[in-house]
Amino acid sequence: MRDVTVIVLAAGGGTRMRSKTMKVLHPLAGRSMIGHVLAAVQEMEPHRIVAVVGNQREQVGPHILDLVPDAILAVQEEQRGTGHAVRIAMDAVGHTAGTVIVAYADTPLLKGESLRAFAANHEAAQRAVSILSGHVVNPFGYGRVLRDTDGDVEGIVEEKDASDEQREINEINSGILAFDAEFLADALPRIGNDNANGEYYLTDTVRLARDAGLAVGAFAIDDVMQTEGANDRVQLADLGRELNHRIVTAWMRAGVTVMDPASTWIEADVVLAEDVTLLPGTQLLGATVVGEDAVIGPDTTLKDCEIGVGARIVRTHGELAVIGEGATVGPFAYLRPGTQLGSRGKIGTFVETKNAQIGEGAKVPHLSYVGDAEIGEGTNIGAGTIFANYDGVAKHRTVVGRHARTGSDNTFVAPVHIGDGASTGAGTVVRRDVPPGALAVSGGAQRNLEGWALSRRAGTQQAKAARDALASQDDPPSVVAD
Ligand code: UD1
Ligand code: CA
Repeated sequence: MRDVTVIVLAAGGGTRMRSKTMKVLHPLAGRSMIGHVLAAVQEMEPHRIVAVVGNQREQVGPHILDLVPDAILAVQEEQRGTGHAVRIAMDAVGHTAGTVIVAYADTPLLKGESLRAFAANHEAAQRAVSILSGHVVNPFGYGRVLRDTDGDVEGIVEEKDASDEQREINEINSGILAFDAEFLADALPRIGNDNANGEYYLTDTVRLARDAGLAVGAFAIDDVMQTEGANDRVQLADLGRELNHRIVTAWMRAGVTVMDPASTWIEADVVLAEDVTLLPGTQLLGATVVGEDAVIGPDTTLKDCEIGVGARIVRTHGELAVIGEGATVGPFAYLRPGTQLGSRGKIGTFVETKNAQIGEGAKVPHLSYVGDAEIGEGTNIGAGTIFANYDGVAKHRTVVGRHARTGSDNTFVAPVHIGDGASTGAGTVVRRDVPPGALAVSGGAQRNLEGWALSRRAGTQQAKAARDALASQDDPPSVVAD
């Protein structure tokens, strides 16, 4: 493609969102609205991207530069119309050759391939102005494409300025226009604001070109939703659902089994391998990557996680976790950032992990908290174990070696080291290092205070039950005798 400049308009207020967050920054499918538009624009590989910012530009400007560091920001202090906005953008570029594409920042379904096809059509036809148009059932609110008796494009009339007859036209201006840069630079200062809104309409350029005998035309997009904008949160949810539907459908076509597409949410940057299975109620967010044959769900949310080949993740909430090949997680696990589970390892039921490296084949099967820990390969952690990593002031680390067997209901008071092949008894509170191969037990030997319930709980059901049981013995102890 020859010299292409894309201007993205993002100065409008978006007051119908009723939000302290600027409209185009609202997210869907893991990116802001403008993030989706900029991604589509970048797919065109244009020479320059200019964004016109105004309302809440202290939020919008840095966000744009985060996503496209070499974007040019043009500031429109007062929103005086799309023609005014584009004039400011052209002034900021100070360059008038090639093709200029104007797009809006609130059309998150827009695809790079559509922009590319539109630009190619515009350039091939050597037009001064091209309209990306669409045919819609309900054209209310849109600018209508006016055609002469030969069917050639004459201009665009806005809803408020249209006659009743013109309002019947259902070919609309999507808002995306392509220009010959020299024509645009020449036409912008000639646009007036004598219309129902008192605004400078970019769409008036179509009439100006036509009057000068220059080529104008429209290129219709079949998939009109790509150019739909979200003005309030209801439309945002509608577009979000549609975008998700498109993403989920694309993954199914790429070989992913999705049992219930309607309850499955996959964000734009997620990557899935063939033969992944997603069960109902699964949300895959951020930069999550899932390997072949893994089964995720039901009711699982994973953000920025890496799931290995053949892993099984059931009813789990995870963030920034790396799960190895063939490993199993859940049901009811909470994987916090820094969790790493080795291949064929297990993080089981009601287990919370954070900053924990759990080795190959190692298991934390039941009811445990594992924070700031390293667990060696093949080790089994007993049910109900707490890695006590926080002393109220600082966090400390626990290291458990390879092939260790720790008992149920243990507390590991960090910093502490349990050696390779070591064991701990049930209920052990490990405060000191356990050498390799040792068995650690804590608490004294068990003491039974005979008849304690009879003397200390006299008159209760407990005491009665104890008395009955003891009295039925062949040789009742003296504590029972009256
Ligand atoms: C515009 C088009 C209309 C088209 C419709 C498609 C004009 C005059 N009309 O109408 O033909 O059918 O889009 O949605 O162009 N903006 C600025 N600065 C401004 C004015 C607008 O940055 O001074 C931005 C807005 O933030 C918005 C976009 O431009 O993203 C469109 O502006 P808006 O006022 O919503 O135009 P519409 O009335 O929808
Ligand atoms: Ca609009």
